[in-house]
Amino acid sequence: MAEELTISKGISKKEQYEEILPQLKALVEYEKDTIANLANLVAALKYTFNFFWIGVYFVKEDELVLGPFQGPIACTRIKKGKGVCGTAWEKQKIINVPDVDAFPGHIACSSATQSEIVLPIIKNDEVVLVLDIDSEKLNTFDHIDEEYLTKVGKLIASFL
Ligand code: SME
Repeated sequence: MAEELTISKGISKKEQYEEILPQLKALVEYEKDTIANLANLVAALKYTFNFFWIGVYFVKEDELVLGPFQGPIACTRIKKGKGVCGTAWEKQKIINVPDVDAFPGHIACSSATQSEIVLPIIKNDEVVLVLDIDSEKLNTFDHIDEEYLTKVGKLIASFL
């Protein structure tokens, strides 16, 4: 595993994802521990894209429980169907929220968050965890994020 990531400046978002994806794969290649891998993955994505908050919530019985993250402290438990995270879990699909104030039931862990994207990670037809990314700006996430985060989700599913 490389000790430092290559993170280029002045390239497009798509190029940033193309640059970081193989590095994410290399980061988790020889490690089996789920927490260790998720901790490194969210750190790598945080430092690539300077996200305000990025982290995971694990499905534990009827709730989501906070896992490795980068950013300000966050809510620890979210019920199924609640907030963006609980909705992505219930619907088993990626949810891209351009304006959190317009999402009914959005859970404001931080009042600074303005847009958000949540991706459920599915293994054997069940959601195991969700990956949540928050932005301090409106309209941050687009089809490029959806496309590449789906690839990140497949990578995560590979070591769960
Ligand atoms: N906003 C999320 C809660 C988690 S925090 O953003 C870290 C939601 O509505 O589910």
